[in-house]
Amino acid sequence: MGNYTVLIGAQWGDEGKGKWADTLAAQFDWVARYQGGNNAGHTLYYHGKKVVAHQIPSGALHPTCTLALLSGVVLNPVQLLAEIAEIEALGVSVRPRLLLSDKAAVITPWHPYLDQLSESKAETPIGTTRKGIGPTYADQSLRIGLRMGAYIDPQAQQAWVRKMCQQVEGFEAFYRSHEAEWATFFAAAKELAPWVGPAEALCREAARAGKQVLLEGAQGTLLDLAHGSYPFVTSSCTVAAGAAVSLGLDPRKISKIYGIGKAYLTRVGSGPFPTELEDAQGEWLRAKGQEFGATTGRPRRCGWFDAVAMRYAQEINGFDGIYLNKLDILSGLDEVKIAIAYSHPTLGRLENYPADPTILEAVTPIYESYPGWKEAIETCRSFEALPLAAQGFLRAIERTSGVRLAAIGVGPQPEHRIYLSEAV
Ligand code: IMP
Repeated sequence: MGNYTVLIGAQWGDEGKGKWADTLAAQFDWVARYQGGNNAGHTLYYHGKKVVAHQIPSGALHPTCTLALLSGVVLNPVQLLAEIAEIEALGVSVRPRLLLSDKAAVITPWHPYLDQLSESKAETPIGTTRKGIGPTYADQSLRIGLRMGAYIDPQAQQAWVRKMCQQVEGFEAFYRSHEAEWATFFAAAKELAPWVGPAEALCREAARAGKQVLLEGAQGTLLDLAHGSYPFVTSSCTVAAGAAVSLGLDPRKISKIYGIGKAYLTRVGSGPFPTELEDAQGEWLRAKGQEFGATTGRPRRCGWFDAVAMRYAQEINGFDGIYLNKLDILSGLDEVKIAIAYSHPTLGRLENYPADPTILEAVTPIYESYPGWKEAIETCRSFEALPLAAQGFLRAIERTSGVRLAAIGVGPQPEHRIYLSEAV
């Protein structure tokens, strides 16, 4: 195993990254989040107790892991402190292991306000989590954002407020009318200050000294700002290459890239979703798979597995393997389906995923159907122990998507897994 392994979502997020990252973290010295912010919700279990990590890396429950948030992250300080308190209340200390990049962009009280405003005014809302993710990345690109290094310096804080009042319409009125919120926000800086520093340089140094680093993504490939169905995307680089950018790493040093997927598909928020099931079948998947957002509680849209989208994710990321979750949810169906291509009214048959949302909106999936299986599969611990129909479905996913399945999730608990080949 090399020093850097990347673990990311292969679909539209909510693939169950937390569960695998938590297990894999046991083999790593560092777990570093490289993009996104508290729009994410990674569900972890500690002695049966559920915790949702929004910003803290999923290695949080492993007491020897260093936990880093790198430059590509947007960070909500008040929520981060609340999250630390929640995890520490379980008896796991987080503070001594935390490193926050001085380059990470800060989500200030202004940013969720802007996010809500633009979503409520939009003719076609994106369906964001309204956590201020897009506006924070936008300010960073405009070079008027507040980064962690400046946030923890009282003089730089004040200089930033002055600059915003001068340059950004509406900011001063918002600032003056939300005094208590700003006071809490700036008070959090003092608490976070001890952990802020050159997280990237320290991470690279640790790797040079032989430490193993897991670079953890949030959201999923199909929500990538550049490669997703823009504008129905998140505002960061969710693909594997983003890890090298965020860490400032020679990309050739990344030794393994793993994707997390689900045996069916879900999406939250707006945007095209060719295999969406807007019928009783979709309702059934949502109820059985408990498909409600870990961050917003919103019902997730559900549909069949899409091999066209997975081929695209494989091409962009170069996965060494896929961890496929929630195969157990499909137990009980007469037949299961995989979209193998799309049909477009004017462009004809499409084998390649068109990220352009107007094309994607207009396509109809071309499905292959396979026999379903009725048996519960939670207790299966090998590929051969699965019903033959489930085995056939997994092989069909590999064949139609061009991926190698590394492991399968057959139930919600950590022991509900089947390893198919050498994983991380
Ligand atoms: P934002 O990231 O809050 O700006 O939301 C942009 C889009 O990404 C919306 O469709 C959200 O529902 C989606 N999104 C953001 N974070 C997640 C996530 O962690 N899981 C799934 N979808 C997400």
